[in-house]
Amino acid sequence: MAKPSRSVYVCQNCGATSPRWAGKCVACGEWNTLVEETDAGPPPGSGVTRQTKGRIIKLEALKGDAQEAPRFSSGIAELDRVTGGGVVPGSAILIGGEPGIGKSTLLLQVAAHVAQGGGRALYFSGEEAVAQVRLRASRLGLAEAQVGLASETNLSNILATLSDGKPPDLIIIDSIQTLWADTLDAAPGTVSQVRAAAQSLIRYGKMAGSAMLLVGHVTKDGQIAGPKVIEHMVDTVLYFEGDRGLPYRILRAVKNRFGPSDEIGVFEMVSGGLKEVANPSELFLGDRDSRSPGSAIFAGVEGTRPLLVEIQALVAPSGLGTPRRAVVGWDTNRLAMLLAVLDARCGVSFANYDVYLNVAGGLKITEPAADLAAAAALLSSMSGVALPRDAVYFGEVSLSGAVRAAAMMTPRLKEASKLGFGQAVLPENGDVDVQGMKLSLSRIAHLKSLAEATGPCD
Ligand code: TYD
Ligand code: MG
Repeated sequence: MAKPSRSVYVCQNCGATSPRWAGKCVACGEWNTLVEETDAGPPPGSGVTRQTKGRIIKLEALKGDAQEAPRFSSGIAELDRVTGGGVVPGSAILIGGEPGIGKSTLLLQVAAHVAQGGGRALYFSGEEAVAQVRLRASRLGLAEAQVGLASETNLSNILATLSDGKPPDLIIIDSIQTLWADTLDAAPGTVSQVRAAAQSLIRYGKMAGSAMLLVGHVTKDGQIAGPKVIEHMVDTVLYFEGDRGLPYRILRAVKNRFGPSDEIGVFEMVSGGLKEVANPSELFLGDRDSRSPGSAIFAGVEGTRPLLVEIQALVAPSGLGTPRRAVVGWDTNRLAMLLAVLDARCGVSFANYDVYLNVAGGLKITEPAADLAAAAALLSSMSGVALPRDAVYFGEVSLSGAVRAAAMMTPRLKEASKLGFGQAVLPENGDVDVQGMKLSLSRIAHLKSLAEATGPCD
């Protein structure tokens, strides 16, 4: 006889459970996130049975046989780069991103590539009907690929299908939030359902050696919806970002058990699907011939790859009591800090000005080395004098106004030189090797030197 199920209230934000409903989750402090769910025991296929007594586990030494994880190519070089050199069989990869950004397109392309290479690839769509996926496949010119396609949301059916025949090399689930386990009494997309589905699928993938690509929805703040616990369960978490008005898409690793977690892959959305962009610097540089005041080129690094990006600033007199600060693609707190440092250490006050800062091309910059380029853009907009057209900037600014050395300085300069830049403004400290580069270096120790050279400093 089945045990009577027990009702619990689960926070849809953090996954905390509580026996009673409350307006506010005591664990994460979010309001209105508790939803009643039935705890009906372990999910199907999870292999968990109630044990009364554990068995003793054999302990191992740290030293012993350990091999590099084998990998296979996804057929898409930028995805291979982000996953650390290819997809590891048996691993689970979660891909999050706004609706319409291109997750389904990317995954269909991956499935088709694996199938074309002789692998077995299955695509389970919980969001679209078979006909819709077929339409996309024919648009992408991939209709001939031997991908097994199903429109299915029932977890047990999917698990049964997976166990039938040769284990697949690649399984695509689009998306994890649409799946439901019929043993649970909760609606699809709730914490228990998403957790149960992820757990069962990942367990199957590990056992059968099938790589799993899971699509995850994102909330309005851009986080993967549902409990953080899903991000802990999978081996790799990727975010697909980009401005929907622009064709560029950036695939960013935020967690990777099998490689570095700071790599990005750059794609362009064209009529034939997502195209890899092998040399992304040219994309983010903007129109180089008409450089106006307020535009500075940041010589950045994303993962192992140097990347030049245009940072644009607009400083305009404000009619408001509290001037506006608006930032796209950078951290608002970082801008506030930089404005305070410019005021306190260089005597350039933005107190009566609205400040807008924008990173061209829809890229999000998280590197502190962007400080110097942002400062250059702000100072240039303030003084109305355009920066030299062939100059790049990088360096972290500390609260004292000192410019600190950045990582990978030589590759940044090399990229700038390769793209025809002739000058670089960079920190005084740190070794660089500029042999063979036609680049004049201006090494500065304090932000003041930049402010003096750019104009508005008294
Ligand atoms: P999609 O993969 O459905 O996004 P997601 O799964 O993340 O919601 O991508 C949808 C967008 O991509 C849609 O707006 C149309 C565009 N697109 C192209 O521009 N070219 C193409 O070849 C395809 C298939 C889609
Ligand atoms: Mg989709």
